[in-house]
Amino acid sequence: MPRSSYYLLALLLSFIATFLWFSSSVKSSTKTPILTLAYGSCSCPPGSDQAKTDLTPSSPPIKPSSSLPTGITITSPSPIPPLHPSSDSTPEPPTSYYLPYTPTTQLSRHPFPSKLWQKAGPNGINEDRQKDIQSWLSQNPSLRHEIFTDGSAEQYVRDQFSKFPDIIDTYTDLQVPILKADFLRQLILYADGGVWSDLDVTCHIPISAWIPDAYKNATNLVVGLEFDGNQFASWTVMAKPRSSHIAAAIEYIMDALEDSAEQANTTISGLTMKTISDVVAVTGPQAMTRAILQSVSRELGERVEGGNVSGLHEPVLLRDVLVLPNAAFGAMQAGWPTDQGPYLVEHHYAGSWKNDHGGESGGDKDGSGDGSVEKDGGQEEEGGEGEGESESHGDSRVKSEIRER
Ligand SMILES: *[C@@H]1O[C@H](CO)[C@@H](O)[C@H](O)[C@H]1NC(C)=O
Ligand SMILES: *[C@@H]1O[C@H](CO)[C@@H](O)[C@H](O)[C@H]1NC(C)=O
Ligand SMILES: *[C@@H]1O[C@H](CO)[C@@H](O)[C@H](O)[C@H]1NC(C)=O
Repeated sequence: MPRSSYYLLALLLSFIATFLWFSSSVKSSTKTPILTLAYGSCSCPPGSDQAKTDLTPSSPPIKPSSSLPTGITITSPSPIPPLHPSSDSTPEPPTSYYLPYTPTTQLSRHPFPSKLWQKAGPNGINEDRQKDIQSWLSQNPSLRHEIFTDGSAEQYVRDQFSKFPDIIDTYTDLQVPILKADFLRQLILYADGGVWSDLDVTCHIPISAWIPDAYKNATNLVVGLEFDGNQFASWTVMAKPRSSHIAAAIEYIMDALEDSAEQANTTISGLTMKTISDVVAVTGPQAMTRAILQSVSRELGERVEGGNVSGLHEPVLLRDVLVLPNAAFGAMQAGWPTDQGPYLVEHHYAGSWKNDHGGESGGDKDGSGDGSVEKDGGQEEEGGEGEGESESHGDSRVKSEIRER
């Protein structure tokens, strides 16, 4: 064997040895980082692992209990949090209540306030409406009664919602009377409760008899169906104060108004009957219906829709909301059905709110001067409680068209 072969062999052996040493040292060096990484995954100072494991028994962050959101902004009148993307064209259900509310079971222990709330327009109250008012007082002798004027309504909202400047601003910014009137009833029902009724409604049955005995201790809100049976009437509503469902209605209206203003490229005060897409859906009965059904669904943890309250022959209790068949409040347009319980109130549809001004009630045309929008209507009765208006009508009797079952 030539000498060079030994050299080559020696070279090869030393190369192999070097390679083995190198690869083993690489192996051990790659091991180290892995271990280091494993230890390094705790970036906390020594001793804190213990605390960490003790504190992380997979409990989620503390949340408001169950599906019932709580009114957490009671003491801090901060701006209303955006409840849904403002680019949405149709308002979505609010995810939390902005206004504090009384839990259902607690509310159930209280009676409905024995009070009727109404609102007159700047032109005062004509004879037909005086008869309607008298019907309430005759049927309910112990009923307290208050009629707002534009001025006293605004003062009321300022007083009651002093902690919620957004609500005050929205109410005072609104220029169209029907929008204001729609919003006002929800605010009153929330703050004080009792019965809201438009002026063109006759009461046929005492309020104390509206709720069947079986539902008396579980009802905190009473609504009737409109003639088409698809939405709740907003001309007459009875509520206990601080109902979560009325809170939901207020929020729904606030959001819908904001969305409408955005769509019309204007502000709340710039909204008119022409720029607002659909009054009924923004502040009116449809808005109220959607908000209440959404609120009930949320609290029941079950979807409740229009179908659950259509074609009713008996009242239906949805959580604490009693829905009356449309004979109750909407008999006149429902064709006086005889199989849907008693006619409780009768709505005369005197309002011609679809006029350009969004009047609460057309003044001259239909002869009901209980609310026209004309600012020049003159005699604004400011400030007063309005009680005088209802007390000065002597014994004018209810119209002869009383219908009972
Ligand atoms: C409510 O009234 C119903 C029927 O009268 C009764 O069965 C039920 O126990 C009452 N519930 C409460 C909470 O009082
Ligand atoms: C919205 O109104 C502003 C001011 O009036 C105007 O400058 C802007 O072009 C309008 N935008 C749209 C999309 O109409
Ligand atoms: C609402 O209607 C649906 C479909 O008919 C029904 O399954 C559901 O139980 C109803 N919910 C309530 C609360 O009545």
